[in-house]
Amino acid sequence: MRICVTGGAGFIGSHLVDRLIALGHTVLVIDNLSTGMREFINKEAQFLEMDIRDKAILSVFEDFKPQVVFHEAAQTMVPVSMEDPRYDCDVNLLGLINVLDASRAVGVEQFVMPSTAAVYGDLETLPLTETMSGVPTSFYGLTKLTTEGYLRIYEQAFGLKTVCFRYANVYGPRQGDGGEGGVISIFNKAIKEGKVLNVFGDGEQTRDFIYVDDIVAANVAIMDHRELTGVFNISTNTQISINELIRHFRNISNVEITVNHGPHRIGDIRHSRLSNEKAKVSFGFESQVGLEEGLKRTFQYFETI
Ligand SMILES: NC(=O)c1ccc[n+]([C@@H]2O[C@H](COP(=O)([O-])OP(=O)(O)OC[C@H]3O[C@@H](n4cnc5c(N)ncnc54)[C@H](O)[C@@H]3O)[C@@H](O)[C@H]2O)c1
Repeated sequence: MRICVTGGAGFIGSHLVDRLIALGHTVLVIDNLSTGMREFINKEAQFLEMDIRDKAILSVFEDFKPQVVFHEAAQTMVPVSMEDPRYDCDVNLLGLINVLDASRAVGVEQFVMPSTAAVYGDLETLPLTETMSGVPTSFYGLTKLTTEGYLRIYEQAFGLKTVCFRYANVYGPRQGDGGEGGVISIFNKAIKEGKVLNVFGDGEQTRDFIYVDDIVAANVAIMDHRELTGVFNISTNTQISINELIRHFRNISNVEITVNHGPHRIGDIRHSRLSNEKAKVSFGFESQVGLEEGLKRTFQYFETI
């Protein structure tokens, strides 16, 4: 199949591209390398260094004729969205609309993009299910929630088949240190450099951490389910505190770890655990990589770079 992955030089996008290439698909990566890395891009993929807001995406799509688009490119940092809401909106909303318009114009068969647990805001009833309406506490969460509405209306009004995955906190090799699940890559780097681990608040905040291979598996699986549209949580349906995470790191790394607790970060949610029942029932999704195993693999990766 002919597949375009925007953000294919990034953490999640590059793993997805590797898997799609391994499955024999023809893949085009569009990425402006703002946070992505050229060396993450699979050598067998076609690559265009381009901004998703560039109108030339239409002619690129006319030439490449993608059947499926995975739109992973985004401004992914909550603090950046709070400091510069205009930029966040520009990339995450107007950039999306640009890619949606090109997709619609060339008759893309399936358009898949990530949303985030941040759309739920600080809802206290866990696990979070797709029918709950949250109030995002950050501009990043708000723009992502709005993108879901755009997908719905592009589908209703123009017949573009869309799927939106609300990823929990993703972690794994190649992750940068600014994005959502970033705490694990930040801790890995700090441990490697013998630095103190900085924790926002008391460390009792919890997250639903999911290994990147499970995210890739969900994206690949949805291609066999063209009948499905709408919003799905992609998660482990478990939650772990930052303090527990540090205990895991102590076991895995076998080094002395020092922790510093600073103030709570504006826009951060307190607890997060996403039900994955809908994805399980609809297309058989289940996370396969447990936290212990995923953390070991990630730790080993950061040790070798
Ligand atoms: N990592 C997580 O825990 C998590 C959780 C929920 C949702 N998501 C979503 O998953 C997607 C991928 O995130 P990631 O963690 O891999 O982040 P990432 O920063 O590693 O990847 C994003 C990629 O998009 C590219 N990009 C950014 N702005 C661009 C632009 N204007 N034009 C072209 N390319 C641009 C970057 O260069 C990068 O390669 C994002 O949509 C993010 O919001 C991530």
